[in-house]
Amino acid sequence: MKRFPKKRIFITGAGSGFGRQLSIEFAKMGWKIGAADINIKGVDETIELVNKNGGSAIAIPCDVTKPEDFENAAKILEQEWQGVDIVVNNAGVAAAGFMEKIPLETWEWIININFKGVIYGCRTFIPILEKQGGGYIVNVASNAGITSLPEMSCYNATKAAVISLSETLVGELYPKNIGVTVVAPTFFKTNLHTSLKTTDARQEKMANSFFAKSKTTSEDIAKHTIKSIRKNKLYVITQMDGKFSWFSKRMTPEFYYKCIKWGYKYKIMDKYLGM
Ligand SMILES: NC(=O)c1ccc[n+]([C@@H]2O[C@H](COP(=O)([O-])OP(=O)(O)OC[C@H]3O[C@@H](n4cnc5c(N)ncnc54)[C@H](O)[C@@H]3O)[C@@H](O)[C@H]2O)c1
Repeated sequence: MKRFPKKRIFITGAGSGFGRQLSIEFAKMGWKIGAADINIKGVDETIELVNKNGGSAIAIPCDVTKPEDFENAAKILEQEWQGVDIVVNNAGVAAAGFMEKIPLETWEWIININFKGVIYGCRTFIPILEKQGGGYIVNVASNAGITSLPEMSCYNATKAAVISLSETLVGELYPKNIGVTVVAPTFFKTNLHTSLKTTDARQEKMANSFFAKSKTTSEDIAKHTIKSIRKNKLYVITQMDGKFSWFSKRMTPEFYYKCIKWGYKYKIMDKYLGM
């Protein structure tokens, strides 16, 4: 972190869950946090926690579906801190459902937030980081973008897109001295379930069971993310189940999807979750 003596970080979706915890972890290291969200109350609570943990923060209203909000955020960061060192595109929502039943409105909603929000964040801040001589971008995807489990097409597709975008940028931005990390965790406890849209009640029950069963906390993922930024590592794949599926898909893709097909047909996941 010595690369960033000015200690300035901008985080979207900072009003809850992972974005809030990452703000707290950076606060503990004395950083200044630009906390952005559409949830103003959540951001205020995050700022209080940041202050308690040794950092300082400014609230930045930013709806990630609006490119003009990112332009405005960049202006605020320029005025307040004369720039920014790390940009975290974290804001996200969740959806599940059968492909043919997911309403087009849900596709548009999730693509706009989970994917286009990351595009706008990168487009806005890359020239600023380049002009400063370097910086860092963290994109929050999900293991869903790797495992591609059934009945999660729209969420999986947006997260796979964020992984691909980040993999593209890690090379493209290297000569500009801008590092890239993509965070791809499996389920951990946050408020993500509150945004969840499904096509039937079973999917909601399954997702809630996954969240409830997870022993991973936002703190675990935040600490791992900071370690990865420190080491300039591309991937944050923390949990054992995530590492296992990532490894198996890359090493034996056909076998991996044979297991997925078989497991889905015989409802292995439903049995595991006690449905
Ligand atoms: N919790 C998990 O199990 C899990 C697993 C893998 C990946 N993720 C990813 O982690 C990221 C953070 O999610 P979380 O789990 O902390 O959930 P969360 O719901 O606790 O936090 C998400 C935040 O994003 C904000 N947000 C939603 N739409 C927005 C918009 N248009 N503009 C600005 N902010 C907006 C919400 O208000 C909320 O504060 C998401 O990208 C999510 O997909 C979460």
